[in-house]
Parts: sequence; structure tokens; C-alpha cells
Amino acid sequence: MTRRKLAAGNWKMNGVGASLSEVQDLAARHPNPLCDLLICPPATLLSRMAAVAGPIAMGGQDCHAAVSGAHTGDISAAMLCDGGASYVIVGHSERRTDHGETDAVIRAKAQAAQAAGLVAVICLGETEAQRRSGQALVVVGAQLAGSVPDGATSANTVIAYEPVWAIGTGLVPSEAEITEVHAHLRAELSARFGAIAADGMRLLYGGSVKPGNAATIFALSGVDGVLAGGASLKADDFSAIIAALEASA
Ligand code: 13P
Repeated sequence: MTRRKLAAGNWKMNGVGASLSEVQDLAARHPNPLCDLLICPPATLLSRMAAVAGPIAMGGQDCHAAVSGAHTGDISAAMLCDGGASYVIVGHSERRTDHGETDAVIRAKAQAAQAAGLVAVICLGETEAQRRSGQALVVVGAQLAGSVPDGATSANTVIAYEPVWAIGTGLVPSEAEITEVHAHLRAELSARFGAIAADGMRLLYGGSVKPGNAATIFALSGVDGVLAGGASLKADDFSAIIAALEASA
């Protein structure tokens, strides 16, 4: 099966109203993209971004597992939908580290996202110590098993492999390492959901993807797109990454 590629940007805790000019610029450069485009800005920008996003889908960066209630500072999946989001990132390593999110918490968030009609972009990845000790496949396999809900389908779930040590560091795994992890994740998904159901689920790579290395990463077997951080903040950089993904499709 041919999976439609996805170029996703995670703005993290960056961006104010003025930053939307980057989105407007990007939308103007890619009016008819050959791959799906997604930007996950801070939630404060969602409804304003809708006015300039054009073909670019919008997503949240996290959601609470509950529909509503006494959870100060949190945001629900339904609120993200209301702001115009169609995706939400869950289980980013910065959430796992800064907020102690476990696989069970992330699974509940993904379930809430899917129930609200959002696509859950479920992130996982090993630390440097885990990679050094030869545990990378075991770790990502356990994260996949623990954080992906039973109701996951190719329509409501995207998986993003983001090695913790590659995020914001300029370090990128070798081509063989990325291919190995993606093949492992695909095999685990097939074993759990059946080869046909799992076949459509997109597996992104994230971690220090830049215009200069994007084409090499996108040429790798099993890589269905990217979750970019820093390089998604500037239209010039993200546009070059999108062009590389389109060329690989
Ligand atoms: P960088 O692209 O800045 O390394 O961040 C990757 C990331 O964490 C995306 O979610």
C-alpha cells in the first residue's frame, strides 16, 4: 500500500501572532502539496492560524484524557477540535520527561483524541543511554505496545519515532538505525493489528531533521514523513523539507 506522506511541524513553546506570517508564506508556497502538511502551534494560535493555513492542517501538542473538568492549565481534545485542529501530538518525549507522562497516560490521551475525532500523533523513542546499551528496539516496542490504543487505525493514528538524543541536538541516527527501528515498529503494528490494518499507519521520523539531511532520511524504507521541531518554525526551512518529502513520494 502507498501511504500518503506527512510533513508535520511541532512548534513546541514557540510562536506568537507575528509568527503566523511564516504559515501564510508556507501556505502560499505549497498551494497543492503532494503530501499532507501539518503544523502544531501553541494552542493560543490555533484559531488565528486557521485564517492563513490554507492546505496546512493544524494540530495540538498535547491533550488531557478527560473530556472536561477541573484540570487547571490543561486542554481537552474537544477544545482543540473547536480551535480548528484535526491532529494532536501525544507522548512527546518532552511531555514524558517534563510531566512524567507514562505509556498508560499517553494511551488514555490518544484514546481521548481519537474519540474526539482527532488523529493522534503518538511519539516514542529511546534515550541515548538506552541506545548505547542496545535497548533501543526493546524500548520503542514497549512504548508502542503501551501507548497505542486498541482502537488505533490508519485513519486516527500516526506514529512518530523520535530518539530523545536526536531532538534539538543536531545528531541523527544512522540510516541503518532509522530503517531498523521503523521496520521493527511496522512489524509490531502488524503483529498487533494485522498486516492489512497496520499497513496504512504512517510512521514518521523526528529529531534534527533539516533541509540538508531531509532527502537522505526520506529515501529510507519505511519512513512516511517527518515530525520537525526547530526547522518547522521558519517557512524557508520547512518548505525545503516539504519539497524533499514531495520528491520522495
Ligand atoms: P527538532 O527537529 O528541533 O530536533 O525537534 C524534533 C521534535 O521534537 C519534533 O517533535
